[in-house]
Parts: sequence; structure tokens; C-alpha cells
Amino acid sequence: MKRTIKDLVGLKGKVVLVRVDFNVPMDEGGRILDDTRIKNVIPTIKFLTDQQARVVLLSHLGRPKGFDTKKSLYPVALELMKKLDCNVDFINAVVGSQVKKRIKQLKEGNVLLLENTRFYKEEDACDMEFAREIASYGDIYVNDAFGSAHRKNATGFALARVLPNAIGLLMEKEIENLSFAIKEPKRPFVAILGGAKVDTKIKIIEKFIEKADCLIIGGAMAYTFMLAKGEMVGMSKIQEDKIEIAREILEKAEAAGKKILLPVDHIGVSTSDSKGKIEKVDKLKGDLAGYDIGEKSIELFKKEIDKASQIFWNGPLGMFENPKFSNGTKKIAEAVANAKAFTIVGGGDTVNAINTFKVADKIDFVSTGGGASMEFIEQGTLPCIEVIQQKIV
Ligand code: ADP
Ligand code: 3PG
Ligand code: MG
Repeated sequence: MKRTIKDLVGLKGKVVLVRVDFNVPMDEGGRILDDTRIKNVIPTIKFLTDQQARVVLLSHLGRPKGFDTKKSLYPVALELMKKLDCNVDFINAVVGSQVKKRIKQLKEGNVLLLENTRFYKEEDACDMEFAREIASYGDIYVNDAFGSAHRKNATGFALARVLPNAIGLLMEKEIENLSFAIKEPKRPFVAILGGAKVDTKIKIIEKFIEKADCLIIGGAMAYTFMLAKGEMVGMSKIQEDKIEIAREILEKAEAAGKKILLPVDHIGVSTSDSKGKIEKVDKLKGDLAGYDIGEKSIELFKKEIDKASQIFWNGPLGMFENPKFSNGTKKIAEAVANAKAFTIVGGGDTVNAINTFKVADKIDFVSTGGGASMEFIEQGTLPCIEVIQQKIV
């Protein structure tokens, strides 16, 4: 058992550095499309401010390459102001003399949000010096960022190595619920995997074959697999350097007698037509890019969903944020919600989808983790959880 914030004593006046996952879906104008990841860490923040701790929040947002105002966490600070009774401040940096000064000035029971940690290359490089610098601003480190606990980065992993530490209430809840669900998965166990992060998630899919009885692959994730099978993908989003591993996964699944379902029809968009003509097709020929799955695929996937006793879903089946390409994700969301199976849905954008289609209350467990929940199901733990001290009993 890991130490949690409930095990911490003497928090009054202490600077508590809290890593959270505020990687929320946001539109171009900085409007937050789904606040689940913010809402879910409020209990941890309140627990700390109620005890008069001085709370400093750290998070990444998106995958920026250096400083990028479009990826600023400022809109999240505005949202936190609405959700918390205490004073919430924001500073557009993570390290430096100004940050140090603002933390020194931070009053007991108040909150300061730092800027996107990924504006610094040291974050993903898990740079120890960067972590030590941040650690020097605080007294205690808390990790409540379940959604990014699979990333061995500076503020999620390295910081825990240099400060007394604990996990937050959301992290505790995620571990409890997901551990329960994976101990003895009810079979057939169907995993629905979609979304766009082929580069980082494909490795986990390989391991998922052992866990699940059937894998349904949709979203942008599907095209790399389709290409590996020799199927037409037109101009769809693919990950060239992952075709080989996709092929290996398909072979491994076949050898293990596990089913992998790929879309059999698509909503394609013409990439050469300036108006972006939309077509319902079985094959993505020529200049067509797949943006959603078609009705036949929905029916095919629904059959497995209806038979399942346990379902895990991460990754939208299409570009659902655009109503023209939302049908596949909506129908699958409804099928998962109405399934007799025990259902787990995770991921920043996938949770946005189940909220958009108003089915979240019919899901047995909604996780804030996408890739993180996949890795947790596969390994039973995550690097940023492992690095936290054990509870003294
Ligand atoms: P999650 O946040 O749930 O873990 P991801 O971040 O991996 O999921 O992927 C979510 C994104 O995938 C969505 O924003 C969606 O628009 C995009 N997506 C899904 N299917 C497609 C597609 N066919 N083409 C382009 N983007 C897609
Ligand atoms: C997520 O949204 O899955 C987490 O915040 C991790 O984001 P990343 O895949 O960009 O590291
Ligand atoms: Mg996402």
C-alpha cells in the first residue's frame, strides 16, 4: 500500500507540490471541452487547503514543442477559480526566481498553478537537475496525476525521488477500482482501442492480447493495422514506423486464437477536394482519408460488445469532436453503456465523448487515464506509483 495524503501530518504552512493531470481536451480558442480531469482532483486540493497547506500544482497539457501560448494552462487556472473557494493564482513558468518568489508569497490554504511542464524539454527527459530545482521550492510531493502516471518524467517521477511523498485521493481511487477490475477479468473481456496516439499506445496493445479475448480497433489507430494487413487506407492518418509492430500484433493475436476486429467501412473525406467531400465507403481509395467508422463496422463491433462480460474502452472511434464524424463514437458509446458487461472507460478524450453523448452515468468505472489505464491493466502498477513511499503500518 502506498502512502496517501491522509497519512501526512503537520501540513499547515507546508508547500505541497502536487502533480496533477490537467491534460484536458481544449479547442483552438482555449475553451475546455471536458472538465473531468479538473473536477476529479478537487477533493485532493481541498483536503490539502483545508489543512492550511500552500498548494502548488504542476501539470502538462498536450504535446507542445517548447513554449507555446496555445498550450498554456491559464484557462485551467480560470476553471479552478470557479471550482475552489480559496485563492487561485497562476504563473507562466515552472522554474526560476519569479516562481520561487511567488511560492514564498503563497498564503496558507491557497493555490498556485504553474505553467505547462512540457514547455521545458527537461520534463520528458526526466531531468534530475530540473526536478531538484522544483523540489527546492517545496516541502512535500504529492502525485494525483493518474492519467500520466505511465510517463517517467521529471515532475511525475523524478520529483518523488527527492522529496517526502504520497499519492492523492484520485490516484488512490483509480488504483482501487482498476485493480479490482483486472484481478480476475470477467470473460469474454473485450478491449476497444481507438484514438490517435498510435505511437505511444501500440506497444501496450501488443501486451493487451494476453489480457483480452477480443480487441476492437478503431479511430486513427485502425489505419496502421489495416495497412499492415495490406488493406487500402487512402490518405488516412497512419504511423509509418509502426506498421511492422502492427503486423506482429496481428500475427501474435492469430497464433493465440484472439480476435482482432478492424473497421470494414468508413466515412472518408476527399483530401484533394477543396470542400472536403464526405463519402461512405467500404474501401478507402485514392485521396480519401478515414475520419469515422461506418454502419457495418458499428454493427460488427456491437455484436462483440453485446457478448462481452467485461469491457475496457480507450480512444474515440473517429474524429467525434466534429458532428459529421461523431456517429461511430456515439453508437459505440451507447452500445458500451447498454452492455450487460462490467464497463471501464478511460482517457481524456474518450471521457469527453461519453459525457458529450450523455452515457457516462451508465459506465461502471470512468477512469481519467487513457494510456495510463491501459498500462495499469496490463502491469498492475505504473512507474509514478511505484516510486511513491510505502505506507507505514
Ligand atoms: P484519449 O484521450 O481518450 O486517450 P487519444 O488522445 O488517443 O484518446 O485520441 C483522441 C483523439 O483521436 C480525438 O481527439 C479524435 O479526434 C482523434 N481521432 C479518432 N479517430 C480519428 C481519425 N480517424 N482521424 C483523425 N483523428 C482521429
Ligand atoms: C493522456 O492524456 O493520456 C495523458 O495526459 C498523457 O499524455 P501523453 O500521452 O501526451 O503523455
Ligand atoms: Mg487524448
